[in-house]
Amino acid sequence: MKKTIDEHAERFSEAASTYDDEQDSEPYRMCAQQVVNHAASTSCDTVLDIGTGTGAIAFELTSAADRVIGRDISTGMLDQARMKADIENIENISFAEGRFRDPNVDSDITVDIVTSNFAMHHLSDDEKCNAITVISALEPDRFILGDVMLFGAANPDESFYDPSVDDPATVGILVDALTDAGFVISEVEFVHEQVGVLVAEQ
Ligand SMILES: C[S@@+](CC[C@H](N)C(=O)[O-])C[C@H]1O[C@@H](n2cnc3c(N)ncnc32)[C@H](O)[C@@H]1O
Repeated sequence: MKKTIDEHAERFSEAASTYDDEQDSEPYRMCAQQVVNHAASTSCDTVLDIGTGTGAIAFELTSAADRVIGRDISTGMLDQARMKADIENIENISFAEGRFRDPNVDSDITVDIVTSNFAMHHLSDDEKCNAITVISALEPDRFILGDVMLFGAANPDESFYDPSVDDPATVGILVDALTDAGFVISEVEFVHEQVGVLVAEQ
């Protein structure tokens, strides 16, 4: 990880009030839409969205799921997400502190689908493997990971990869980590040389 969890949390809290307005790039929108499409393709009881931010993915899944749980390390991003839920009066969504290595989900909750969009690339590759093991242990039917991931060589001059804060893995490393954790990869979606979506089932 290029920054500590606290540094990432602070960085995102500072950007939280303008975050939604700034997510206007075509690859970000395409990636988010594909994550939503794969997650919403079957209705289910519970979706867990890790690195939920202001809830871009989580809100889109409230009509396909009975309950959507968003987890993040940034209080500022979580405050924005909760404010949106209040304004829209959406009752089957909730947000709380939680992180990849400990998503903070009660043991009596069965998680059917896990999503994560544009968040896991902040972890080192070892931490990503650990996070994938933690997610696998929740025994979801499907895990949909949209993220900065490298289809070719890393190119810091291209969008989506700032080496001072980002630590994206290659698609191969992510596929191996998912497979080692017991997932079967059903889709690899190319969005951009440095952005993709992986659909993993178990
Ligand atoms: C670029 S934003 C993406 C937010 C949202 N998923 C989206 O698609 O717009 C990345 C989010 O990941 C969160 N994050 C970073 N590291 C995390 C970690 N270890 N565990 C949970 N969330 C983390 C940040 O606080 C931030 O809200």
